[in-house]
Amino acid sequence: MTLYLECLTFLIFFYYFFNLPQVQHVNPTLPIRFEDLPIAASNVYRPETNATFDFGKVYLINLDERHDRRDQLAIMTSLSGLQFERVPGFRLTSREQTFNGFPRYSPDDMPLSKLACYRAHANVWRAFLEDENQPATALILEDDVDWDVNIKNIMSNFKAPLYALQRAIANQSIDDYYPSWTSSQWDILRLGTCREPPHVKEFKRVDVNLQNVPYLLMNDEGVPEREWIAVDHTMVFDTYGIPISSILEEEVESRRRIIQLSNYPVCLHAYAITRIGAAKLLYLTSQGLIDGANDLTIAEATQDGKLDSFSFTPPPFSQWKSQNNIGNSDNGGTNTDPLPDEDGPSSFSWNIRDSIRVEISSIL
Ligand SMILES: *[C@@H]1O[C@H](CO)[C@@H](O)[C@H](O)[C@H]1NC(C)=O
Ligand SMILES: *[C@@H]1O[C@H](CO)[C@@H](O)[C@H](O)[C@H]1NC(C)=O
Repeated sequence: MTLYLECLTFLIFFYYFFNLPQVQHVNPTLPIRFEDLPIAASNVYRPETNATFDFGKVYLINLDERHDRRDQLAIMTSLSGLQFERVPGFRLTSREQTFNGFPRYSPDDMPLSKLACYRAHANVWRAFLEDENQPATALILEDDVDWDVNIKNIMSNFKAPLYALQRAIANQSIDDYYPSWTSSQWDILRLGTCREPPHVKEFKRVDVNLQNVPYLLMNDEGVPEREWIAVDHTMVFDTYGIPISSILEEEVESRRRIIQLSNYPVCLHAYAITRIGAAKLLYLTSQGLIDGANDLTIAEATQDGKLDSFSFTPPPFSQWKSQNNIGNSDNGGTNTDPLPDEDGPSSFSWNIRDSIRVEISSIL
């Protein structure tokens, strides 16, 4: 019996060995439309994610006194089936506290709140590196974030496109094997930006040898209509000449997202890091002069090619804008933009199609 099975295996092997289809490994040309790639059709590339989106962990930065935000996040993560580890935010009450143990900074450009924000994030990067379980990756969230009720699907659908983009930038073919996004092919994933400008005309980064702007376009049902996308993000589509779904223009029905090699990503309310990414962030922000907010220091390092970083536009994580101030984001930027619809909800988040924060009252 065993002999027979082995023979059969051998015959099958023999058959396949000499009848292998001639796979053409064509290197994709940038920019990429993900749906044109053969791997886009395969269900293998749309796996479910777990309670930490398949990252090693999720950290949440939250000041001790902001019970409102922590309460909201506890509800949101429970409804979305997520798990996070809370890291207390950092308070600075006097400049003397920064005379030792802080990087050099220019006092004119750096209010204490910005230095405290820098330290809060640095504490997370350090805790992640010091974690005895050595998690490979982590997602870091600030406590004013919002996400879609379908966030797990949205996140799992990013894996194959991100892989395809990375392979294309490396000028390598996209074959049937792909590593999960927990591989070490990136330092940072910018999953929540207030602003991430497009790359204009010829791609400028001198450290990457590319003919074309490195971005990928993917269909994504989780993207809202143009009117609910912040202007700083629709600008990316407009610059690349890509139409997006709009309430006003019925003929444009495409809900799409762009993943690009990061350019100058601003805001730190949601981003993922690898171990080498965390080490680079700690190193970069402790060297030289910090002459602006933490996120701008990192944006500059990104533009200089010091970090392997990818940005998602519109971003899947956004800052909550609430009229009654419960859990409200106090960040400026997009948060001060006028409401898109005077008759619409008074509390909402830019870039989110079906906000978990808006849905809490109807779910419970
Ligand atoms: C989710 O998956 C990642 C990657 O396999 C793993 O490191 C992490 O511990 C998992 N999280 C949970 C909550 O199981
Ligand atoms: C990309 O790789 C192909 C072969 O796989 C090669 O012909 C081509 O010159 C490469 N392009 C660049 C920009 O390196």
